[in-house]
Amino acid sequence: MPGGVAEKEIAAYMLPQRIGDIILSKRRAFFDSIASVWDERFYHVTKEQKNLDRHCALYDIKKGHKILDIGCGTGVMFGRFKKLAGKRGRVIGIDFSSAMIKHARNKHKNDKKNFICADAHCLPFESKTFDRVICFSCFPHLSDKKKAIKEAARVLKSKGMLVISHLCSSRKIAAIHKCAGTAVAKDFLPPKTDFLLTIKDIGMQLLEFKDEKGLYLVKIRKP
Ligand SMILES: C[S@@+](CC[C@H](N)C(=O)[O-])C[C@H]1O[C@@H](n2cnc3c(N)ncnc32)[C@H](O)[C@@H]1O
Repeated sequence: MPGGVAEKEIAAYMLPQRIGDIILSKRRAFFDSIASVWDERFYHVTKEQKNLDRHCALYDIKKGHKILDIGCGTGVMFGRFKKLAGKRGRVIGIDFSSAMIKHARNKHKNDKKNFICADAHCLPFESKTFDRVICFSCFPHLSDKKKAIKEAARVLKSKGMLVISHLCSSRKIAAIHKCAGTAVAKDFLPPKTDFLLTIKDIGMQLLEFKDEKGLYLVKIRKP
């Protein structure tokens, strides 16, 4: 009976999705487990406050901008983005770790509703909502980077910008993740060629790419 063949085909077809789900849930559990120590333990939160202020200038945030902070963690950047966007602006932080979101809401009690538990691959927002989609210190952990970029592009307004950034090079990030635990050991920042291929398909424009000591920066604009 062909039923047996069909079953095999279905099983093979579903495998990548299942493996993807397992990796995703391991990563989520990893970030849940470190959420309570994130602010006191991690270098950029404790030691690089001035550097973070300078870093924010790279996002070219204007008064009135609507900003989406992808992988916001405990809301480290929230106050900075809010100040730059001003009273007419709006900042939303999303993170797939409910523990990170809980900490962010506790830290920013008047802005609780602006922190949402969601996955970067499937954003719970209407198309053309944001002026800036910012992915600070999160992009290596996104398992389907192409899909995440497409989602960011969807929620960006025309002339809006997706900015992916880190306070160190892709090389250093790879070394940090290698020692950080199996859930993130292979999480990486892609080379320029990967971005060029991805954005070609979706009609976005690569404005800037830097991968050097102390900075990884990618700016992608929606036409
Ligand atoms: C290295 S932490 C950085 C957090 C914050 N941006 C900061 O700099 O303090 C990466 C964050 O990305 C989140 N993250 C990873 N994969 C995600 C996904 N698929 N969707 C949403 N958030 C994700 C993690 O839960 C974690 O909070």
